[in-house]
Amino acid sequence: MRLPGRDAETARIERLLADARAGRSAALVVRGEPGIGKSALLTHAVAAARDMRVLARAGVEPESELPYAALHLLLRDVLDGVGRLPAAQAAALRTALGMAAPGPPPDRFLVGIAVLTLLADLAADRPVLVVLDDAHWFDHASADALLFAARRLDAESVVMLFAARAGHAPAFPAPGLADLCLSRLDDATARQVLDAHAGDLPRPVREMLLREAAGNPLALCELPAAYRADRAPVFPLGPPDAGRGGTAPTHSAVEREFAARIAALPGTARTLLLVAAADGTCNVAVVLGAATGSAPGRPTWRRSNGNG
Ligand SMILES: Nc1ncnc2c1ncn2[C@@H]1O[C@H](COP(=O)(O)OP(=O)(O)O)[C@@H](O)[C@H]1O
Ligand SMILES: [Mg+2]
Repeated sequence: MRLPGRDAETARIERLLADARAGRSAALVVRGEPGIGKSALLTHAVAAARDMRVLARAGVEPESELPYAALHLLLRDVLDGVGRLPAAQAAALRTALGMAAPGPPPDRFLVGIAVLTLLADLAADRPVLVVLDDAHWFDHASADALLFAARRLDAESVVMLFAARAGHAPAFPAPGLADLCLSRLDDATARQVLDAHAGDLPRPVREMLLREAAGNPLALCELPAAYRADRAPVFPLGPPDAGRGGTAPTHSAVEREFAARIAALPGTARTLLLVAAADGTCNVAVVLGAATGSAPGRPTWRRSNGNG
């Protein structure tokens, strides 16, 4: 299925898949803010790779401190291939994945080589697509091994696609690999996406939601439902740099993202947001005054809320 506004990006990925069918390999890191469509693009890649062997996993935050947890998740269905690796690589990988007697940590170089050899062996049957979503949550040991393999891809018929969040998450540096940075949808595409979710809403409301979503697909998909549920803009916080009021749809993915961002802000910024959320005046001077305890804002704020 076509992804609105992502023709160039899907074409680039489809070229990599075609190259893999022709015996070449490549790796790409898809980057972008939360909700921008990284996972959607990876899903598109998987759909376009029906003829290929697909290994797909996403990093999970609770396992991001466990060495080799992500690698274990990714490789557990292909572990029978470990026996065909050169002995030193097999031993290192077995140790990394907890399949050997407890001992010292494995040689990271050998683990990286083992991953590369394993993928190359798999691709001898048919081309392989490795999809690694939310790679910013990968534990360092797994990320190192996978990036090590990715940097050495050559003519194995393997494509490795990583997706990593820009900002508000651990960094995912991937030196030596190509990046594909997803930007906000342009106005025409954003309208098209919004209309698919908000065709029933009056035009002025759609215009407001369009402004607040600021081209972020997740916001375009979620804000209409929030509006219908009467959770219209309640505090001034939109997607990054939207610059105007936003919507807080309870229990939605958008809310979770924003909550995580708020939690990461310094204390004074959070206090300011809290005051802004409680404010009923929409007057910046009032909010600043109340937040800082300075004289000009406070009386007005108190008066307007009638709660002294
Ligand atoms: N180009 C697009 N057009 C329409 N909807 C999109 C597009 N990209 C993403 N979406 C939708 O937006 C939401 C967020 O996308 P997702 O891929 O999960 O973002 P990310 O992985 O970057 O956080 C999903 O519901 C997805 O289906
Ligand atoms: Mg995602």
